[in-house]
Amino acid sequence: MPHVSDPLVIRGQQIKNRIAMLPMVTFSFKGEDGNYYGEQHVAHYAAAAEGGAGLIILQSTSVVGVGRDQGMWTPGSQAALRRIAAAIRAQGATGMMQLSAGWNDERSPDAWSGAEIAALQEELRLAALRACALGFHGVEYHFAHGFTLCRFLDASRNRRTDAYGGAPENRIRLLTGILPDIRRDTPASFIVSARMGEYAPASADGVGLARLLERAGVDLLNVSFGMRMPEGPVPEGFAFSPVTCSAAVIKRNVGIPVIGLYGIRTAKQAAQLVEQGYADLVGVGRAMLADPRFPRHVLYGDPVNACLGCKRCSWFTDHTKCPARKTAQA
Ligand SMILES: Cc1cc2nc3c(=O)[nH]c(=O)nc-3n(C[C@H](O)[C@H](O)[C@H](O)COP(=O)(O)O)c2cc1C
Repeated sequence: MPHVSDPLVIRGQQIKNRIAMLPMVTFSFKGEDGNYYGEQHVAHYAAAAEGGAGLIILQSTSVVGVGRDQGMWTPGSQAALRRIAAAIRAQGATGMMQLSAGWNDERSPDAWSGAEIAALQEELRLAALRACALGFHGVEYHFAHGFTLCRFLDASRNRRTDAYGGAPENRIRLLTGILPDIRRDTPASFIVSARMGEYAPASADGVGLARLLERAGVDLLNVSFGMRMPEGPVPEGFAFSPVTCSAAVIKRNVGIPVIGLYGIRTAKQAAQLVEQGYADLVGVGRAMLADPRFPRHVLYGDPVNACLGCKRCSWFTDHTKCPARKTAQA
């Protein structure tokens, strides 16, 4: 079994170790002059890169407006994103943008017109090319956590009867329909990941979708949860959460690398997840907010400034007020 310090090669791109910073919105940060991204984001992601993460997946960025240089893609935001990509590269790390279809659209997939779907797909495609041009090594499409793309994936939500609903092949078409174009227009090493859950709504659905995504050419699966968090139980002896168990289930069923995650707060957990073969990469979210040098500390056996698991960063608007971070030192 691999070690957490081992590199992982995806599409010829070497990820220098098995620790991935998970996408996390930085709710309190504001870019300058009305731009979404700015100096605070640059410093935040540069610190994560200096902290040793092999892979850094940026927070969810809505693709809406990408073709018009609007929304989260204004020229000012792009300038900050370019600096973030460069800061990640400067540490020999791999950087990816997470792309979503916006926050506020609570409609069911059935309510989308064909023209709206075509427009969204075009923005999903353009955003990947934009991320590539800004210097990122890849993109992750956010098909998890109940947001728009997730609802298209989940058979209980997506009741369309056209090419975007019904059969699993149709429910992933938003991505698979644009993947050949993305491949044509990006370097061979450009990584395309999907964030998804195992239950869509049943385990067999998620496993089937994961296999189809692999067959369609997706390079990496970041396995979190879909419409709802799984409640378990987990198999006897499995020392991680039901969300982490989903990654292990998906990993058993696909050949592409899988990110496993949830509640990883200690060096031992991070190492075990990879070394016991449950996942190829260990995803670390809140523990990176508590200690941006978490990867370095794990890799060099130094004490980790452990996340308290208080979930404040999830519900409050400022992760910099993390109670564990008060004591976080280099
Ligand atoms: C402050 C915060 C913001 C988050 N934002 C995103 C996001 O933008 N996209 C996403 O897919 N997940 C997001 N998540 C979920 C995390 O990526 C991760 O799955 C979750 O925190 C569980 O991992 P952890 O236990 O290591 O924190 C967020 C979580 C937190 C705490």
